[in-house]
Amino acid sequence: MQYPVSFQSGTVQYLLQSSFRSFAKLVDEGNCIFITDSNIAALYAKHFEGRKLIVIPAGEDHKNLQTIEQIVKQLLQLEAHRKSFLIGVGGGVITDIAGFVASVYMRGISFGFIPTSLLGMVDAAIGGKNGVDVGLYKNVAGNFKQPEFILYDTTFLKTLPEEEWSNGFAEIIKYACLFDKVMFDELSVNDVAHYKDHEAALLSLINRCVAWKNQTVLADETEQGERKLLNFGHTLGHAIENLYKLPHGHAVAIGMVAACRISEEVSGLSSSTTEQLRVLLQQYVLPVAYKFDVEKVMELLIRDKKRRAESIDYIVLEGIGKAVITSLPFEQIKQAIATL
Ligand SMILES: NC(=O)c1ccc[n+]([C@@H]2O[C@H](COP(=O)([O-])OP(=O)(O)OC[C@H]3O[C@@H](n4cnc5c(N)ncnc54)[C@H](O)[C@@H]3O)[C@@H](O)[C@H]2O)c1
Ligand SMILES: [Zn+2]
Repeated sequence: MQYPVSFQSGTVQYLLQSSFRSFAKLVDEGNCIFITDSNIAALYAKHFEGRKLIVIPAGEDHKNLQTIEQIVKQLLQLEAHRKSFLIGVGGGVITDIAGFVASVYMRGISFGFIPTSLLGMVDAAIGGKNGVDVGLYKNVAGNFKQPEFILYDTTFLKTLPEEEWSNGFAEIIKYACLFDKVMFDELSVNDVAHYKDHEAALLSLINRCVAWKNQTVLADETEQGERKLLNFGHTLGHAIENLYKLPHGHAVAIGMVAACRISEEVSGLSSSTTEQLRVLLQQYVLPVAYKFDVEKVMELLIRDKKRRAESIDYIVLEGIGKAVITSLPFEQIKQAIATL
């Protein structure tokens, strides 16, 4: 299944239910340079045989400006030029990095993504946000630029570690909370094993998430309004993710429960809905609470990208499938998270 989605900044070809080799139908193979992480390079060495390849160490710790510099040096060694095409093959760390480095190398070369993690497929590869962390601050150096294509080859998921399935489900549950009660109810009667065993159910889930993300980004590509909704669970999530070295999905799961608790106060969410979410997250082997240092978290929140002068745009729920953006004063957030 192939379809284009035209954003203001460019058209992205979506190749759903495709296979790795199909990238060659879209771009001149001879011009391609691949970038992946050490795990994928070892597991899928065959895919990269005879190709120009840059391998970076796996993990969020390497999503930084030092890695960008290393990659630029390797691109120069590989004699990459303005017409070279960079393909990021990996999870969200790789696609965030590949998009960023491609958009700055020689003032910008074209790029495409082949996401290999569930989280990458349903979220990170989509939407044109690229970037890296600086110290504890997540994604603070980055830009908006769309890839030319996103190719889905779900056979990659056969080697995805169990914990990474859960991380992917954190973002899937996020879409369900924000937009899709039917999906929330479907998830509630299933679990990770069900989707691993039922390919059609998994593909349908991925396709719905792709559609939700595209719909939101199309409405607001540079995050002036509606796209902020996708940050549900991410304000606190991002702060604790790098502070405590939590996987992204774990941090988001904890952040979503916190956001629901705050929603109970500010938008009248019923406590039974928070409980439903807690149960669902646990069903997908995700954490729902974390003992964090309130002062340290507040320090990070104050520098959050979603901040205004004395407040932060916080995403709260009114119910499952009904989310709103509320401006919350730091003091109120501090009081709320101190009681979690
Ligand atoms: N740009 C965006 O809009 C956006 C949205 C959501 C998340 N993100 C970013 O994405 C990152 C999280 O993505 P992630 O969870 O994919 O992290 P990741 O890229 O670190 O991948 C997680 C782990 O799974 C391994 N892996 C990936 N695919 C595999 C496969 N098929 N088989 C075996 N192992 C595999 C990786 O090597 C890594 O160890 C975070 O940095 C987050 O900030 C970005
Ligand atoms: Zn996320």
